[in-house]
Amino acid sequence: MDTDFVPREQARMLRELSEFLSIPSVSALPSHASDCRRAAVWLMDEFRRLGCPVVNLVEGEGHPVVWAEGPAVPGKPSLLIYGHYDVQPPDPLEEWETSPFEPTIREGRLYARGTADDKGQVYCLLKAYEASRDADGNPPLNIRFLIEGEEESGGHVVADLLRAEPARGQADAVLVCDMSYYAPGVPAVYTALRGICYAEISVRTLQRDLHSGSYGGAAPNALETLVRILSELKDEDGEIRIPKLYKSVEPPSKSELKAWKGLPFDKEKFLAQEVTARALTGMKKHSVLERLWALPTFEIHGIRGGFTGDGAKTVIPATASAKVSLRLVPGQKFEKVVKQLRKAVAALTPKWADVEVQIHHGNDPVQVDTSDPVFDLLNEAFREKTGNEAVPVRAGGSIPIVSQLGRSGAPVILTGIGLPNDGLHSPNEKLDLQQLWDGIDIFARFFELFGEQGEIRAVDEDDEEEEAEDDEELEEESDDEEDTEAAGAGAGTAEG
Ligand code: BES
Ligand code: ZN
Repeated sequence: MDTDFVPREQARMLRELSEFLSIPSVSALPSHASDCRRAAVWLMDEFRRLGCPVVNLVEGEGHPVVWAEGPAVPGKPSLLIYGHYDVQPPDPLEEWETSPFEPTIREGRLYARGTADDKGQVYCLLKAYEASRDADGNPPLNIRFLIEGEEESGGHVVADLLRAEPARGQADAVLVCDMSYYAPGVPAVYTALRGICYAEISVRTLQRDLHSGSYGGAAPNALETLVRILSELKDEDGEIRIPKLYKSVEPPSKSELKAWKGLPFDKEKFLAQEVTARALTGMKKHSVLERLWALPTFEIHGIRGGFTGDGAKTVIPATASAKVSLRLVPGQKFEKVVKQLRKAVAALTPKWADVEVQIHHGNDPVQVDTSDPVFDLLNEAFREKTGNEAVPVRAGGSIPIVSQLGRSGAPVILTGIGLPNDGLHSPNEKLDLQQLWDGIDIFARFFELFGEQGEIRAVDEDDEEEEAEDDEELEEESDDEEDTEAAGAGAGTAEG
């Protein structure tokens, strides 16, 4: 491992990363489709510069996946690295101190959309790979990269690829670096990710908009109907009022709850510095960490309808719609939650309205077993750099492909180099440069330590048998009338 790599190559790395971040690869906006492709091509060029003998662009119905393989190193374990090159839309633009796609350094932090989520972290792993190679360009292990462009927008290209070519998902371990430290100086590994059900609720009450004076008092208002339905879906204490929604929620284990209690957590600081609100909301009978990691949520992301232009217009809107999502926790299944949401909305629909629930995307929650020895190696790399091992935590967010990545039985390492205040999906997203430099050393060291393990068999026959048994168990588990759908994601080490 090249220990001088970071100080020697810093200036070049800042140039390269800035170039990558300048490409506005916003996967949700059709107008940025060519930028997503440019980001993918940028990565392919980078993988070629790094001497990868296999570099593919995998096309599908959506933004392409980049696949790259380092040179084969016989007798060494294999590591699959997953990341995403797409980013969230940058709006509201006026709240950015500097433009989201003109990366700028202020006080040791690099500001741009995608710095932490996830282009900066993908770049960190590329440079760790570069630093870990020997003088002939050979890495210490067999490394393969799977970098997708639709993580932020619910696309299917990477899922279709892994389904069609499961061999691409086979490895001795999978590394996903798309999250953050628990706190400055305290790295984290994640034992669960929430799933999601992203929906749009559309209401029509009239054939056309009407004069609110001539008809107000007698004609049904679509926007009002919509907000009434929305407000019925969650009560003031944060409890979601979808019948049976909490029934399948598995509470965290006693040992998990105990571990969370032991984590440093300053509620006031969290409120003031991360949430930036006057008070926290949600179900008060549960701790904040439980609310963030172990309970489902219902959020309204945006409402469309009526008149929102400058000035005033007196109108009764005929249509209105809202984008909403539920985050799902272990025990819940996406398909079942879809049915529960549809049923709840139907029950709240008044006779004067047509209401439609359209599902944009969704996935099951995931749990990860972190007992595999590979986590000890990562901990060693973290300890050498930060003085601390990773604390086990859960993520409130989702990474849809993870349930599929665990299916080969390989341990899935969910970790990251970000900090909790990086502002993912917010204006002024940033990455602290020291986190990037340390991250390069940490992962280069991890590659080296993992490489020292020699060859490991990805899935042995026992594991395969266990997997088949797990699937059967899941199928038998159906617990009530709606539960006829298939077992869903997540056999193997990452469990749905
Ligand atoms: N990096 C995040 C996931 C994440 C967020 C992990 C916070 C840990 C803490 C990821 O890129 C993300 O934002 N995913 C989306 C997926 C969704 C659009 C299906 C999310 O969670 O909103
Ligand atoms: Zn994200």
